[in-house]
Amino acid sequence: MRRIRSFMVSRHRAAHIERMEEDAVNFAKIYALDLQRLLVCVDSHDLFRDVLPQKLIRIAKVWNLDVTPVEKFSPLLLHGKVAAEYIKRRFGINDKEILDAVAYHTSGIPTESPIVMAMFILDSTESGRDFEGIEELREISAKSLKEGFEAIVKNKLIYAVTNNLLVLPETVETWNYIRGVKS
Ligand SMILES: [Fe+2]
Ligand SMILES: [Fe+2]
Repeated sequence: MRRIRSFMVSRHRAAHIERMEEDAVNFAKIYALDLQRLLVCVDSHDLFRDVLPQKLIRIAKVWNLDVTPVEKFSPLLLHGKVAAEYIKRRFGINDKEILDAVAYHTSGIPTESPIVMAMFILDSTESGRDFEGIEELREISAKSLKEGFEAIVKNKLIYAVTNNLLVLPETVETWNYIRGVKS
């Protein structure tokens, strides 16, 4: 997977992934997570992040993935789902937690899975990220996976609305799940 990564992602993206790998080692220790599974998520999650939007739409069609109206509007949002489908097809990975962690690393998903939560947190808080409130998010995440996950979901929603950006339906669902709505 690392070899594939070297020709699929930009340098800048590769650096993001490498920083996440370092944090993943730490997380695996603190939260007793399976480091190998977490690293599969980290190494694959942004494989399609530097692919052109129209190409992502085409790949999603060929692989029969559901494309939501929001993803049609902003195809880059598909990069997680496409990456999850890719590792399933290319490497035969059928571990649902890994696939969900990859597919929903940007939006979040209603979950109790430590791997899914850890992946979501790592993507937002790796040491190269810099935005208002990030230190607090890092601190919360170092104490509790669940609370870190919740704080980041909240932060993303506030950020999106404040900046007139799209709110992803999966993020809203995640928020409602955190607030007690069970499907
Ligand atoms: Fe991503
Ligand atoms: Fe990422």
